[in-house]
Amino acid sequence: MNPLNHVAIIMDGNGRWGIKNRKSRNEGHKEGIKTVELIIKDSIKHKIKYLTLFAFSTENWKRPTKEINYLYKLLERFLVTKIKIFEKNNIRLNFIGDRNFSIKIKNLLKSAEKRTSKNTLIQVNIALNYGAKQEIINSIKKIFKMKKRINEKNIEKFLYTFDVPNPDILIRTGNKKRLSNFLLWQLAYTEIFFEKKLWPDFNSKDFKKILNMYKKIKRNFGGI
Ligand code: IPE
Ligand code: IPE
Ligand code: MG
Repeated sequence: MNPLNHVAIIMDGNGRWGIKNRKSRNEGHKEGIKTVELIIKDSIKHKIKYLTLFAFSTENWKRPTKEINYLYKLLERFLVTKIKIFEKNNIRLNFIGDRNFSIKIKNLLKSAEKRTSKNTLIQVNIALNYGAKQEIINSIKKIFKMKKRINEKNIEKFLYTFDVPNPDILIRTGNKKRLSNFLLWQLAYTEIFFEKKLWPDFNSKDFKKILNMYKKIKRNFGGI
């Protein structure tokens, strides 16, 4: 059976769920938060040590301002109302992505990380304003500046995930088979599962089914 440390998820399909069920994309984002809470709980039950959730990409700024503002409001409310629960339940929060936000959001992220920094049950990485190409370019720039050698070890040292093992599993919900600029470096040997269901409909049973499928896969990493 394969060891399982890290699950990464592209939480896609909120907008379509919202249109289909509530006639509003934003309602889909709101519903998606419930699935986030469920999957964090389930990950703890399954003894997963790292969970990385793609919440907002560097390309998502192309969306209408109304939707972007709603997403950041949701994030704000999620952090303000749930931080105590994360603190108490030994859940560590970590944000990956470009922190080029307003002072208010920046401080919120910093404070959530600080308040949970000693927690050890699970680390939840939230990818926010995250783009993998940008992440790799920034790493190479840093290596160059420090006049170090360009090699795998040094590139990884300057990625947002420098202290996180590579994902064992990637799940993308929402019936699209693409990576959308998520963790391009880190996913080199990850087992990928594309799920037809939209993120708000994804449930514990779907999650468990994927974990069970993963356990039976023969991972080669280039060997035999
Ligand atoms: C949620 O899904 C992911 C975010 C970018 C917040 P979408 O908003 O992309 O939903 P669909 O794919 O349009 O249905
Ligand atoms: C990927 O979903 C980003 C997140 C889930 C945050 P998108 O909906 O932005 O991806 P594309 O545009 O369909 O590739
Ligand atoms: Mg989408």
